[in-house]
Amino acid sequence: MSEKKVGVAVIGCGRMGKRRAVATTSHPSSHLEVVSDTDFGRAEALAKELGCRAVQDPTRAIDDPAVGAIFISTPNSTHAPLALHALRAGKHVFCEKPLSIKVEDAREMVREAESRKLSLVVGSNVRFFENVEKAKELVEKGVIGRPLFARGWIGHEGWVLKTEPWSQDPAIIGGGTLMDNGPHIIDISRWLFGDVDQVSGQSFKRLHQLPDAIEDNFFATLVGKEGMPILFQASWTEWNGYFFLEAYGTEGRMSIDSRGDAALVTVVGKDQRVQSFDFSKAEKQSFKREAHEFLGSLGAMSPHLESGRDGMRVVEIIQSLYRAAREGSRVSSLSR
Ligand SMILES: NC(=O)c1ccc[n+]([C@@H]2O[C@H](COP(=O)([O-])OP(=O)(O)OC[C@H]3O[C@@H](n4cnc5c(N)ncnc54)[C@H](O)[C@@H]3O)[C@@H](O)[C@H]2O)c1
Repeated sequence: MSEKKVGVAVIGCGRMGKRRAVATTSHPSSHLEVVSDTDFGRAEALAKELGCRAVQDPTRAIDDPAVGAIFISTPNSTHAPLALHALRAGKHVFCEKPLSIKVEDAREMVREAESRKLSLVVGSNVRFFENVEKAKELVEKGVIGRPLFARGWIGHEGWVLKTEPWSQDPAIIGGGTLMDNGPHIIDISRWLFGDVDQVSGQSFKRLHQLPDAIEDNFFATLVGKEGMPILFQASWTEWNGYFFLEAYGTEGRMSIDSRGDAALVTVVGKDQRVQSFDFSKAEKQSFKREAHEFLGSLGAMSPHLESGRDGMRVVEIIQSLYRAAREGSRVSSLSR
């Protein structure tokens, strides 16, 4: 007897929604049921391409009884209301980063998923970069010893400002490059080195003409629970996108290099012995792999909630960084 496939709705048919919808069509236990976009032409075009239904009103797609799981691939400020609607309708949710733009909303989303025993997953495709996965394995093996500090950057030249008009509306994007690119480097830092206890930071507008409350560069320091400092920059004036992070430990240093098409991780021991892993030639499949992981988890006995909690923590850290930048202070214990 063939197992019944989980019906999936994708809300938002822009860049990310298309990726999630295409990934769903190649997943063995899922079925793309419906796509939705307030710009109905986009939904119709994607539905035609992938062979599913299209609706304009996202709540119709979410409430559809044939749908059990939702991808929310819409602009930042719409994540919380759509996800809360979906969770209250009993649907599992995959939500693009940032989980929300407000801390209270992220906490409500996690509470709602927990109380209803539903999965809440936040998009964090950088975790699925092969070199980042390898770095995680190496840190866990202790190759650099006890981590002492890390420093890194993430960003691009600010192309979102041109292609996505909502990214210049503070009420929709909720911040600048820190809100846009920051979630990935914060998530990876916590994933590799543990949770954060204190933050400080400064925001800058160096090039782009932007409204108040939207920066094109942010410089941040995070301090982990055991005192480990992590310095990073998020930037929309980074001509050499996309991501670089290096960490020093008691036994050596490690760099994760995802600049341009590179996908490297290099460890140099204190004895100068070099171990290098190069995934640059491998097909880049991080979006598909993370979508498949979510879809594959839907049949599990217990819901996938850890990712949603991580997404909430990232929003708490970002909002604490913005507060620190506004007040010129160091924020401890992160707005708990
Ligand atoms: N690496 C990543 O994980 C990554 C990369 C890029 C974007 N994102 C995130 O994905 C989200 C979407 O980004 P994008 O680049 O696809 O944007 P986009 O502008 O290309 O697409 C968004 C789509 O949502 C539609 N939309 C807006 N409000 C809606 C609503 N209430 N209901 C239904 N449809 C609605 C728009 O018409 C548009 O088609 C953002 O939150 C962004 O931060 C994540």
